[in-house]
Amino acid sequence: MASIPRIEVMHGVNLDQLGRRKAEHYGTVTLDELERRITGFGSELGLVTRFFQTNSEAEFVEHLHGLEGLADGIVMNPGAWTHYSWAIRDALEIAALPTVEVHLSDVDAREEFRRVSVVRDICVATV
Ligand code: DQA
Repeated sequence: MASIPRIEVMHGVNLDQLGRRKAEHYGTVTLDELERRITGFGSELGLVTRFFQTNSEAEFVEHLHGLEGLADGIVMNPGAWTHYSWAIRDALEIAALPTVEVHLSDVDAREEFRRVSVVRDICVATV
């Protein structure tokens, strides 16, 4: 029997503060609650999910380096790093796993700087 696909769900800078951030952009759900919901959605889809959050760009990069053999895909919300972190883009390229870029807010309808994503073109989809 094929093994259950393992999805690494990675939240970047300031996403541990969900629940305290502007509700009009991010809603009121905390990261703990969000992860609980994602675990449920994942199991409905036959996926196993594992979670990681950090406010340190270096830790985020090192986590990507360590994924070899541990994950089959990534769902990633890098937060503000999305808009400028070439280091995270390079690490994502090294990880070489199919990745979906996710944002809670509609980044294309907000400030100009949020419309730029340095990871988008190496992701399989953006939500
Ligand atoms: C975000 C959008 C980013 O512009 C912002 O810096 C975040 C969260 C989102 O989920 O909408 O921290 O990635």
